[in-house]
Amino acid sequence: MGTPPAVAAQTIADAVAEAWHGHHGSGRCEIAVGTVAGLALLWPEPGTETELAARLTSMDGPQLIQVLERIWALRWLGDPYLVDTAHPIRTWLEQDLPEQAIVGVRAVAAAAMRHGLLQLTRGADPYGRAEADVLGPLITAFRPRSAYTERGQIHTPQDLAEVLARLAFLDLPAPGASFDDPAAGSGGLMRAAAQVLRDAGRDPADHLWSMGDIDPLSAACCATNAMIWGLGPSVLIFHGNTLAQGDGPRLATQRRAEVLAHHANVVGAARIMAATLRAERLLLQPLTAPGAPAASSPGHTCPPVRRPPGRGQRRRPSRRERADG
Ligand SMILES: C[S@@+](CC[C@H](N)C(=O)[O-])C[C@H]1O[C@@H](n2cnc3c(N)ncnc32)[C@H](O)[C@@H]1O
Repeated sequence: MGTPPAVAAQTIADAVAEAWHGHHGSGRCEIAVGTVAGLALLWPEPGTETELAARLTSMDGPQLIQVLERIWALRWLGDPYLVDTAHPIRTWLEQDLPEQAIVGVRAVAAAAMRHGLLQLTRGADPYGRAEADVLGPLITAFRPRSAYTERGQIHTPQDLAEVLARLAFLDLPAPGASFDDPAAGSGGLMRAAAQVLRDAGRDPADHLWSMGDIDPLSAACCATNAMIWGLGPSVLIFHGNTLAQGDGPRLATQRRAEVLAHHANVVGAARIMAATLRAERLLLQPLTAPGAPAASSPGHTCPPVRRPPGRGQRRRPSRRERADG
């Protein structure tokens, strides 16, 4: 029997925290959390994860940072709102990092690879990727002691969360029902709810999910987890004090609309640019370039030019020939 996913997630968290503290020192834990979160968004095909882990481990710091930038950029195409909401754990990628932090990023990635992060987050099926919460134990491992005493940042253990979800769903909720955790941590209760729904043949993407937390890293991890766990298009995340504000979901709805409108503009402009480039290429393509296949050959995009029979073989008479009559 393999290691239970929750145990594997805890092992990764402990190894990553040790690697970060050993190579970077304390502080800037958003870099370590963001490195693991980015790599957890790779979802390699089963069977390819060992080779991919070896490639990632062999990269130097700048290469690794470039890979992380590309992962977030790619996910932005499909999930712009969630990637936007995860900004506290990814904006460091846009900054000039001190050498020590880059060394730390490599050490964190190597530790995560060594302890099987890609095995936990592989594959196209979100059920497999949601068998554990990789980011929850990680943010807990980086917390100062005051986080426990002042904010109660202790997540519900995974098996307990699953029991709670099974009890709550003795009567299955109808598609379209919404779930809200205004003090969500990394979203562990939602993960359990999503898995219990899947076990009952339901798709979590048919529901609405709302998560909030006073801690920006926790809210960013909720957003990342919503992608990893495949919670679907109707997710709201808010960062703030639920008790003082009370309007987190309204603000999140507003923000999501803004981000989706921006995404539609950018993707629309990119589509127009791609279509223009394609049209330009067609226009510039010569009818018959020297050495190119004949215009009528298969695969040529221009229609062949047809001449009347016999024409083109006849030479136009010269002026003298015409004058001679
Ligand atoms: C005990 S954890 C529970 C997390 C999650 N619901 C679970 O069961 O695993 C409590 C979470 O509430 C957050 N929190 C504490 N006070 C809050 C507040 N006033 N508004 C929003 N979140 C708060 C903490 O940052 C922490 O992540």
